[in-house]
Amino acid sequence: MPRPELHRILLGIAASLLLAGCQDYWAGTSEPPPGDPDKGAELISSQGCGSCHTVPGIIGADGLAGPSLENIALRGYLAGVLPNTHDNMVQWLMDPPAVDPRTAMPDLGLTQAQATDIAAYLDTLK
Ligand code: HEC
Repeated sequence: MPRPELHRILLGIAASLLLAGCQDYWAGTSEPPPGDPDKGAELISSQGCGSCHTVPGIIGADGLAGPSLENIALRGYLAGVLPNTHDNMVQWLMDPPAVDPRTAMPDLGLTQAQATDIAAYLDTLK
């Protein structure tokens, strides 16, 4: 004789164990990086990144002078020289020539807050 209640209880226990695991995960080392991805998307439009880059999710961002930023969050290095971490992305966006004097990407005069928001959006491109 099948016992559906028992299955439901077991499923419930399994689900809460999974959830508890996720909570530990988020409470632990890996806090989501700072910055507001929605503001970042607006800044990418208003700062003209799209005249040089193709940026998924940004209307009109189809430039070809720089590399496409599709899957940028999965890339190991920024501009081939800087390990791709959130902090390094902020540093790069604020002053690319300081990272690589020969780069064709100009210093766009972004504030740290703006660069942090843009980095938060780019973090979503996986
Ligand atoms: C005048 C053209 C130009 C503009 C405007 C520009 N970039 Fe770039 N960007 C480049 C070029 C060229 C590179 C490649 C640099 C290199 O490899 O040295 C680059 C590299 C990058 C990289 C590293 C990509 C990779 O594959 O490693 C990121 C991220 C990036 N740009 C984001 C932005 C964002 C965000 C903006 C707007 C705030 C922006 N760029 C504006 C030309 C531009």
